[in-house]
Amino acid sequence: MSKTLLMIKPDATKRNLIGHVISRLEKARYNVVEMKMLQLTEERARQFYAVHEGKPFLDSLVSFMTSGPIVAIALEKENAVEDLRALIGATDPGKAACGTLRDEIGLDIEKNSVHASDSDENAAIEFAFHFG
Ligand code: CMP
Repeated sequence: MSKTLLMIKPDATKRNLIGHVISRLEKARYNVVEMKMLQLTEERARQFYAVHEGKPFLDSLVSFMTSGPIVAIALEKENAVEDLRALIGATDPGKAACGTLRDEIGLDIEKNSVHASDSDENAAIEFAFHFG
């Protein structure tokens, strides 16, 4: 078993898609091990996305991520990180494979509904960020 971290972003929480996302995760045989709904501050959003410092989309991303509640979910499954990246699809919903979560509910490259850790190392960092 390995762990990964998923965030349901403000565009999805605002459209009442929390249950839909969790249902998709459970159908894909993920175990929810920890979960919380929270409001990110600007400081915490910048910390979470520090890897994108200097990118042209960072300010807008921080503004979006602080525009409403998010849900942080710690998940467990064999091959958790890789399988979850496949389940959510490409960053840009317009390019996400048919049937992936972002293809299904994502709005645009910023408001792409969900975030998932991209490596086991980042999963551990992101798990610690939200759950200590
Ligand atoms: P996420 O997987 O959370 O990682 C970084 C986020 O930045 C990404 O999803 C999008 O919400 C947002 N973003 C906006 N523009 C871009 C872009 N051009 N490339 C990558 N990420 C972007």
